[in-house]
Amino acid sequence: MKPIRKAVFPVAGLGTRFLPATKAMPKEMLPVVDRPLIQHVVDEAREAGIEHFIFVTGRNKAVIEDHFDRQFELEHALTERQRCDDLELLARDLPGPGTASFTRQQLPLGLGHAVWCARELVGREPFALLLPDVLVQHNRGCLAQMIDAARDLGDNANIIAVEQMPADRLDMYGVVGIGERRGGLFSVTQMVEKPARDRAPSNLIITGRYILQPDIFDSLAAEKRGAGGEIQLTDAMIELARSEPFYALEFEGRSFDCGSKVGFLAANIAYALDRSDIAPAVRAELKRLLGEG
Ligand code: G1P
Repeated sequence: MKPIRKAVFPVAGLGTRFLPATKAMPKEMLPVVDRPLIQHVVDEAREAGIEHFIFVTGRNKAVIEDHFDRQFELEHALTERQRCDDLELLARDLPGPGTASFTRQQLPLGLGHAVWCARELVGREPFALLLPDVLVQHNRGCLAQMIDAARDLGDNANIIAVEQMPADRLDMYGVVGIGERRGGLFSVTQMVEKPARDRAPSNLIITGRYILQPDIFDSLAAEKRGAGGEIQLTDAMIELARSEPFYALEFEGRSFDCGSKVGFLAANIAYALDRSDIAPAVRAELKRLLGEG
């Protein structure tokens, strides 16, 4: 497969599940420990070798753009106080000059529409798509695992990350049907967006990490409405799968659906327990809260 150089991050969602926290602040800026959700996902893309970061934003999201820019007043204050560690941290997180692009999804017409809005910035090359609602915790990031698995595939292959989900939650996700195994990958035989309980082809959901061929934009251009009246990415992928191979990777690691309150809180606890500077104190605090301390 050709190298994957660009990643798209759809960040235009309204975040209504987190009101009032998201009234004036994008949900993608909510912190998991001390890094915004979007920073965690950008880190995952960077670890996988992504060179260009494309954000599909919307109104009230300008602070995301500010987050990925330099902050001279802050840098000046930190320099005066000789806070070298903090300065290094800020420099390390920042995409290099010219490697971040921002475009706006002008209307909330669905994930498929958001991806289509990135078409001019992506051009005609395969690209990664990462949904910032989902975090995957593992020592090798989910996208890096997908790129590793894609290495021996042909130039027109598409890959989606999948994971098992209990039957009573399948109707909240895209669900795939799988066929033959090829190395660590399965061929995808079916995809259904938010299936009714008795219509799910398996217990494998689409996790929010994709490697897609640019032909997806041709299907999305038709602007067909699907589940929930939205332009669904899954519908465009179904169409693309008629002419190009589609694979699923059951990745290693634990995922967190940070679009839900419980998933978001669980991610905060899990990421905190993974941080040597605070893990012992967090563990003690959890014990105390649960009445075991
Ligand atoms: C989107 C996709 C769905 C996928 C999910 C992962 O749904 O449409 O296929 O399983 O992300 O989080 P949404 O969460 O936008 O409803």
